[in-house]
Parts: sequence; structure tokens; C-alpha cells
Amino acid sequence: MRLANKTALISGGASGIGRAIAEVFLQAGAAVVISDINGLMLKATVEELSSLGKVAGVTGDVRSMADAMKMVERTVELHGAIDILVCNAGIASVMPIEQLEEDEWDAVLTTNVKGMYTLVKSVIPFMKAQGGGKIVTLGSEMGIVAVPESPAYNASKGAVIMFTKSIAIDLIRYNIRVNSLCPGITKTPLLQTEIDNSIDPEKTAAAQASWAPIMRVADPHEIAQGALFLASDDSSFAVGSCLVMDGGFTAR
Ligand SMILES: NC(=O)c1ccc[n+]([C@@H]2O[C@H](COP(=O)([O-])OP(=O)(O)OC[C@H]3O[C@@H](n4cnc5c(N)ncnc54)[C@H](O)[C@@H]3O)[C@@H](O)[C@H]2O)c1
Repeated sequence: MRLANKTALISGGASGIGRAIAEVFLQAGAAVVISDINGLMLKATVEELSSLGKVAGVTGDVRSMADAMKMVERTVELHGAIDILVCNAGIASVMPIEQLEEDEWDAVLTTNVKGMYTLVKSVIPFMKAQGGGKIVTLGSEMGIVAVPESPAYNASKGAVIMFTKSIAIDLIRYNIRVNSLCPGITKTPLLQTEIDNSIDPEKTAAAQASWAPIMRVADPHEIAQGALFLASDDSSFAVGSCLVMDGGFTAR
């Protein structure tokens, strides 16, 4: 029960890695609020996870400051505090620069980067007032090394890692500990969208299966264990770090 009596808000928690983080946090004793832009999927996930502990949902778009504030306020309203924020909501993009349209660039950068700024900005007054907190951002191995034909996604995740370091050094004075979790390829609906939307889906899927030295993709629950570490006191000296869980991809 490493998160007993703690309250966590997880953005994009209706699916994939966010959902697995919600499960693992509930099992560790936290009260969890998940937010997501997809209201139907959110409702189903909240129902499915309710047997594990205290879980509630807030529908909203992390790109909107008003929605981000609503997510944070609802968490505090329900549980009286917000100890952990996981900025997980994100979208994929596999598109070489020649074919990358302005709309896709804007959508990826706004969701993956601004969508963290809105939540972090909203949560700071509450965490400061309660004497501290933990923030975990979802980076990626693709924020560390560039992967071909993904300039928007690579750029967004590189920005997440630097945003994390930047706010980590500013917020530690309030006992708010910020770190990023950088997964490798993980079996989620986002991964499937990435395959479906790529120029050659078959080639993309085959490349992903043999991507990392470990020769398989991750299960979202393996990645969620990293979020648990960063959100708990077990990682008490980690500030602005990037926990890489990529099956050896960036080590090569
Ligand atoms: N799956 C991977 O291989 C992988 C690898 C490295 C990093 N990541 C990162 O992990 C995070 C989660 O990815 P996933 O694979 O679980 O994706 P996913 O698509 O399964 O889940 C993402 C969730 O975010 C929600 N979402 C999207 N845009 C939103 C918005 N504007 N406001 C609120 N919610 C929104 C979606 O509805 C969805 O439920 C992302 O930040 C992703 O970039 C994923």
C-alpha cells in the first residue's frame, strides 16, 4: 500500500498506459480521479476499475486551461487534496516532414505539451498550499532519440522532458517533486493508431515488434510500475529525472 491515503489525478486515464497507472495506483491504496476527452470510454473504465478502490472520472480536454482546472478542482472536491498528478494524455503521429500538415503538427504539440502545462499550472496552488506533491509526466524514448518519420511526436516528447526538468528545479522548493517516465513501445490503442495511420502499416508493425533489444513491446502494467515508483516516496531523491523503461532501445 505504497500510496495509502494519497489522492491522484491521471489525465488520459481511460485507455492504455493511463488506465494501467490508475489500476496500479488503486491497488497501492490511492484514491484516483481519471480524466479523459473520451467521455464514453471514461465512463466504462471508471465502472470497470471501481472494484479496486475509490475511483471517479472527469471528462475534459487537457488542451483547455478551463478543463484542466476543472479536473484538478474536482479531485480536491472529492478527496480534499491532490497529492499526485500524472500528465499522461497524449496522441501519436508517424508522418515524415514532407507530408506533415500544419493541423497534425498543432494537434500533437498542443495535446502532448500544452496539455501538461495546463494541468501543472492548475495544480500548483493546491500542492503548494498542502505542503507538496508529486508530478509525473509521460515522456518517451522518442524524446531522447529521434525515430524516423515522426518529427512532431519526437519534438513533443523532447519538449516534455525539458519542460519536466525546468519545472522540477523551480517547484522542488515547495516540496513538489516532478519527474518524467519515458516508456518504449507499449501495447496500447495509441500504438495501434500509430500503426494504422502510418504510410506503411505492415512495415511499421513489424518494425515495432523487433524494435528494442528485449524483442517485444511492453505491457502497460510494466510501465505503470515506473509511475508508481516516481509517485511514491521510494523515489524521494529523484528530481527532474527521466525514468527510461524501453527494453534497452536507447541503450543500444
Ligand atoms: N504506447 C506507447 O508505445 C508509448 C510509448 C511512450 C510514451 N507513450 C506516452 O504515454 C501516454 C499514454 O499513451 P497510450 O499509449 O496509453 O495512449 P492511448 O491512446 O491508449 O491513451 C491516451 C488517452 O489520452 C486521451 N486523450 C487524448 N487526447 C486528450 C486530450 N486532449 N484531453 C484529454 N485526454 C486526451 C485519449 O482519449 C486516451 O484515452 C502518451 O503521453 C504517450 O505519448 C506511449
